[in-house]
Amino acid sequence: MTSFLAFSTIPTLGFSSSSSSFSRASFPSRLNSLSLNHRSKLCKSVVKCNYAEVGVKDGFKSTTIDVVADVKTERVVVLGGSGFVGSAICKAAVSKGIEVTSLSRSGRPSYPGSWIDQVTWIQGDVFYTNWDEVLFGATAVVSTIGGFGSEEQMQRINGEANIVAVNAAKEFGIPKFILISVHDYNLPSFVLSSGYFTGKRKAESEVLSKYPNSGVVLRPALIYGRRRVDGFEIPLDLIGEPAERILRAIENFTKPLSSLPASDLLLAPPVSVDDLALAAVNAVTDDDCFGVFTIEQIKEAAAKVKV
Ligand SMILES: NC(=O)c1ccc[n+]([C@@H]2O[C@H](COP(=O)([O-])OP(=O)(O)OC[C@H]3O[C@@H](n4cnc5c(N)ncnc54)[C@H](OP(=O)(O)O)[C@@H]3O)[C@@H](O)[C@H]2O)c1
Repeated sequence: MTSFLAFSTIPTLGFSSSSSSFSRASFPSRLNSLSLNHRSKLCKSVVKCNYAEVGVKDGFKSTTIDVVADVKTERVVVLGGSGFVGSAICKAAVSKGIEVTSLSRSGRPSYPGSWIDQVTWIQGDVFYTNWDEVLFGATAVVSTIGGFGSEEQMQRINGEANIVAVNAAKEFGIPKFILISVHDYNLPSFVLSSGYFTGKRKAESEVLSKYPNSGVVLRPALIYGRRRVDGFEIPLDLIGEPAERILRAIENFTKPLSSLPASDLLLAPPVSVDDLALAAVNAVTDDDCFGVFTIEQIKEAAAKVKV
């Protein structure tokens, strides 16, 4: 992720001072030939410094060396960063040194947390927000927006809200869009035609058509972890974690049942909110990661960035 290119490597005397400057003209052509997408993710600085080894006599002339540091600075915008999944994504991204901005109608969460202070919280609604303020400098957008309600509400929040966001991100030239969608549970078509699922699939199509080479759709089943509701934590992990372990242990035996309609309501392994968050972070940082991710692939993607 970080590399250093020395223009001149004549180590001489007296570690004295260093100063930073930004100069496109002094970048080697390798950097200038990078794709726009890649370049927008690099923070390039030329560092001039003089230094010397301890014990070397005075009288030697110090020589300036220029070092170009390609520091990949990611800045992710999490839509719904105050929610159950969104907050896990913000926390995981912060822990990986990624700059994070969240947009949600409620804004900054009221509970404490050191990671919370490291997120820029914007209060707003995707339908009415000032995208200039939200997307400025972003290298990726992750949308966790979605939910239940009437047919109309589900179409609007799962579908239209995300479509608006994808188009705003595309217009602003944000290189990557990641959507938290949902597994289809092998449900019969009359259930899949509900506003929740049709909204999700419309949003997915928008991501994949506007971002054919960098869009990511994560399709988890039930997500477990500690969900905060009105100041209380609901420990969904007490059920979710053992359920995931058991279902994974018996999946070879249950596979034949997966062709039965709705069988995945019982058989699809739940996904830890932390794994889902890491899979989203992996999608942000890995330029080769795009397309639709199943439950199994979410787990694999999370493992890539787990320490
Ligand atoms: N939880 C699960 O088991 C599960 C399983 C599979 C898939 N999913 C999907 O995963 C995603 C996240 O789920 P979750 O459980 O984390 O939901 P959540 O806790 O309700 O979070 C949704 C977030 O979206 C924000 N939001 C909603 N409408 C908005 C709007 N118009 N403008 C700006 N922000 C808005 C909410 O904040 P405000 O209300 O403050 O705006 C909240 O921060 C959803 O798309 C859901 O369908 C969830």
